[in-house]
Amino acid sequence: MKYKKLQGVKLPVLCIGSWTSLWNEMEGPKTPEDRQACLDSIKQAIKLGITHIDTAELYGMGKSEEIIGEAIKDIDRKSLFITSKVAGNHLDSDSIHQAIDKSLQRLGTDYLDLYLVHWANDKIPLSETMPAMCELIDSGKIKYIGVSNFSVEQMKEAQKHSTYPLLTNQVEYNVLARGQANRGGPTSEILQYCRENEMFLTAYRPIMMKDQVTKKQKLIAGLGIPKLEEIAKKYQKTPSQIILNWLTSQENVIVAFTSTSEKNIEDNVNALDFELQTEDKIYLDNQFPKDAEPYLK
Ligand SMILES: NC(=O)c1ccc[n+]([C@@H]2O[C@H](COP(=O)([O-])OP(=O)(O)OC[C@H]3O[C@@H](n4cnc5c(N)ncnc54)[C@H](OP(=O)(O)O)[C@@H]3O)[C@@H](O)[C@H]2O)c1
Repeated sequence: MKYKKLQGVKLPVLCIGSWTSLWNEMEGPKTPEDRQACLDSIKQAIKLGITHIDTAELYGMGKSEEIIGEAIKDIDRKSLFITSKVAGNHLDSDSIHQAIDKSLQRLGTDYLDLYLVHWANDKIPLSETMPAMCELIDSGKIKYIGVSNFSVEQMKEAQKHSTYPLLTNQVEYNVLARGQANRGGPTSEILQYCRENEMFLTAYRPIMMKDQVTKKQKLIAGLGIPKLEEIAKKYQKTPSQIILNWLTSQENVIVAFTSTSEKNIEDNVNALDFELQTEDKIYLDNQFPKDAEPYLK
């Protein structure tokens, strides 16, 4: 495993996510087998050194946190780094204090390593949200605070109202998605801000994205990057491994992926053991469609 260290926090460059394609965001796993597959994926990832786990109160309306709680119950808590998120409709002070207690209970732990504001809410000012987030550090319920889907302006506003530094902004980032979605704005600007402020940019949805034509989630590798197969052959890697390597090779970037396939989790860990040549990095850098339309609602 490779690591990056910022603000004295050393994190593996890969984080295992828990919003899986096997189940519906609101309802959680469809079958007991799906539930077991989610649980097994977390355990396998941890065994392979992916000790950073990403979840949110919203995922399966708490079921993701429960599954993680079960997956980690026999593992030394201090060896793990657990991130969860408070939903954008819970950003008033009372709701934040209630949300963290429920998340901790579902996860079966007495602290979170990192707690993120899942998305900003125009109706609740960050001047209320961020001091409440900081109170959770003061009370020992969380160690670090961060944000998700925030623009540079929102990060600045959040930092203005926080007595502790933001550790990360978790945003969608992959070869074809660079902040053209409605949330967050241009990834290049977010990344620059993160670099200037010693913050991680946690790239979510690194491998899949919504196909504009079919509206279904599709492998980025299959979305028309002409030379990707050729580059993959050159390094004897898969296209997904090339993409993960390209992301993790960027300063300040760590990646949150999801997989319930044993082979794909292993492949993703094995995406880190080589270095892309500059010409290939530049090729991937230039794949972003400059005139891309927003594709997320
Ligand atoms: N902050 C936010 O608003 C936000 C939004 C979305 C996601 N997230 C976080 O980011 C995590 C990752 O996002 P995501 O799941 O949407 O995107 P993702 O990791 O890009 O896509 C997951 C899909 O990729 C497939 N996959 C994984 N590794 C693969 C490989 N090596 N080869 C082929 N296919 C592979 C998985 O299928 P298999 O299971 O078959 O491997 C799964 O269907 C989520 O779990 C969540 O924790 C955060």
